[in-house]
Formats: sequence, structure tokens, C-alpha cells
Amino acid sequence: MKYDKLILEAIKAKDRAYAPYSKFNVGAAVLTEDNNIYSGCNIENASYGATNCAERTAIFKAVSEGYRKIKAIAIVGNSEYFTYPCGICRQVISEFALKNMEIIIVKSKNEYIIKTLEDILPQAFTKKDLK
Ligand code: THU
Repeated sequence: MKYDKLILEAIKAKDRAYAPYSKFNVGAAVLTEDNNIYSGCNIENASYGATNCAERTAIFKAVSEGYRKIKAIAIVGNSEYFTYPCGICRQVISEFALKNMEIIIVKSKNEYIIKTLEDILPQAFTKKDLK
């Protein structure tokens, strides 16, 4: 399926998580408008609040390399459940989301759910609200 590579990159990134406190590894991979993939993992800190989630690591890598338009993101946690993005990450996804972007919530290579941003962050606060 069209997201196979994205899903594999998210799973690979999960293994690079730095999560000595929660022991909860998360991986994410974003697909940019021009089909580049940037992956990321969660990076924890002894000062817990300094932790960065996998989704934001991946998005910030893409944006800092000049890619601001995201058409899909795959997310996987080391859990028996599906790992959905936290509230802060939903907000960050919304900042760079192309219309109709897809969010692939992955449990394993062949087990995933596809959602839209509207599904998981209805009535988002965005740039347009600042006018
Ligand atoms: N975490 C993520 O990386 N993404 C999420 O969407 C949920 C939570 C990380 C943050 C922290 O390192 C660990 O999972 C436990 O909360």
C-alpha cells in the first residue's frame, strides 16, 4: 500500500527512541509534499518537561530542512494498543498539514488505522484565527 515505506521508517525510528524514563518508545515518519520522508523518535530528558515526542521530532526535522507541507504522518508506539498523537503534537501537525493529510496510526507493519486531522483535531485553532 502507498504508505508501506512511511510505516517502515516510523518503525525503524521507534528503535532509536531515547526513553530511559518512560521506557515507552515511539517512532514517527512524515511524508512531505514532494515525497521526502523525515522520521523521528521521542527524546526524553531528566527534566521530564524537556521531552520531545516522536511526531514533533520528525516534523521539526522536515521543517528545518525546508519542507513545510506535510501530506501524511505515520506513528507507532511500543504498545499492544494503537498510539495516537498527544494534544501538543496534534496542534503541531495541524500547523504544517496539507488539506486532506492522512494520519496513519500503526500497531505493526500490517496493522494500522488511517485518520484525517479533522477526525482527531476538530475545530483546530490555526493561523486564520489570529486575523
Ligand atoms: N510520546 C510520543 O513520542 N508521542 C506521542 O504521541 C505520545 C507520547 C512519548 C513522550 C514520552 O517520551 C513517552 O512517549 C511517554 O509519554
